[in-house]
Amino acid sequence: MKENKGQKTYFIKTYGCQMNEHDSEKISWILENMNYIETQNIEEADFIIYNTCLVRENAEVKVYGNLGSLKQLKRQKADLMIAVCGCMMQREEARNVILSKHRHVDIIFGTHNIHKLPQLINNHLQTGETIVDIFEDGREIIENINSNRKYSYKAFVNIMYGCNNFCTYCIVPYTRGRENSRDPENIIKEIEELAKNGCKEVTLLGQNVNSYGKTLKTDYSFTDLLKDINKIDGIERIRFMTSHPKDLSDELINCYATLDKLCGHLHLPVQSGSNKVLKEMNRNYTKEDYLKIINNLKKLVPNISITTDIIIGFPGETEEDFNDTLELVKEVRFDSAFTFLYSIREGTKAAKMENQIDDKVKHSRFQRLTDTLNEIALELNQKLVGKTLEVLVEEVSKNNTEVLTGRSRNNKLVHFKGNEDLIGSIVSVKIENVKTFTLEGSLV
Ligand code: SAH
Ligand code: SF4
Ligand code: F3S
Repeated sequence: MKENKGQKTYFIKTYGCQMNEHDSEKISWILENMNYIETQNIEEADFIIYNTCLVRENAEVKVYGNLGSLKQLKRQKADLMIAVCGCMMQREEARNVILSKHRHVDIIFGTHNIHKLPQLINNHLQTGETIVDIFEDGREIIENINSNRKYSYKAFVNIMYGCNNFCTYCIVPYTRGRENSRDPENIIKEIEELAKNGCKEVTLLGQNVNSYGKTLKTDYSFTDLLKDINKIDGIERIRFMTSHPKDLSDELINCYATLDKLCGHLHLPVQSGSNKVLKEMNRNYTKEDYLKIINNLKKLVPNISITTDIIIGFPGETEEDFNDTLELVKEVRFDSAFTFLYSIREGTKAAKMENQIDDKVKHSRFQRLTDTLNEIALELNQKLVGKTLEVLVEEVSKNNTEVLTGRSRNNKLVHFKGNEDLIGSIVSVKIENVKTFTLEGSLV
């Protein structure tokens, strides 16, 4: 933490996905350029920012709950400034709730106009009024915002914004706007700069990275980008999130064999194993298409780890549909999965569908799915005992200061004893014990 020389402090809380996490790094950079410094203690902050998510109802409920508890703080500190931004603020309904029930909020902005924050702060300070500023769509890509990144050795890099897919359950296209790819020159320049400053691992961010390039004026695809990033000295690991099965090309599968820096892990959300449900979700692939991708990948890269997202209880999901999902899980053998109970999002097509599934049924299916996933995850991890993995050391374990944690190339969390000087370096760890979600080993 930097020294506070009478500077104003800010506290930022991020909800949601990596997109929001990275946006918070940009907000942080903007604020530090305005001479604010970060504090981890919300009670001492002069400026509190909530960067919000609304992908599921519970994400929204959390934001309103936390905002409610700031009322007291605002009463105690007259000059405390509060801003709410992020995906929730792209929805008029959510903005109206803030404006009517959380009047202690001073600034509201969205996902497309982060660069305007200095102006919005000044407007508020000069007028004392609540400032609401939203761009309804992505318009042009703003390139001159830098990021105050959390780690020096690994970094998120946006390659595209928005989403054109309109999966029927999903609110993201309504908050992040239409698909828009960043120019490759800007991406490469950013990664070269990161590498110069010691960054070893980049995670390329986009809602559907496989369709990267479609909005560019030149003929340049996601795999072209991967090939160019693979040439950058200093970068040792490339990851990306997220790809959509409908656009996953054979060319991308080949990259796993040809690009030495591309990590052996693919996060490929399947959502459901039932063709009927996939169709209702507007996913544009079948269970068979998905399995074909996985089989091709595994043929080429036998040790690749595959992770996914699954939604349980989409409207009309029968026991048979759910069993199709369980069967698919057993066939693919995912290393891990994010599992979600379907949540109604007003404004999406699925919100209006009949046959919404009873909560009890959803929870029972969720439990059965989790048990199956965990069993498989443990079995896959057990196969790693005795193997030596390359680990990028990330931090000291929160529970034991003698233990370091890091990620293997196939994205497994690895714990081992070591000195904190190793943070940021790539080491070899021999795996000795495994659990469902973590591996334990010793430095070799
Ligand atoms: N663009 C990414 C992820 C977007 S949101 C992708 O397409 O993979 C992350 C995950 O949240 C989705 O993959 C989906 O599994 C889940 N999700 C989105 N909307 C949801 C909803 N209404 N209810 C439950 N889960 C949802
Ligand atoms: Fe949502 Fe589908 Fe777009 Fe992912 S691809 S952000 S799930 S609409
Ligand atoms: Fe991410 Fe939530 Fe927005 S999942 S894109 S922060 S709605």
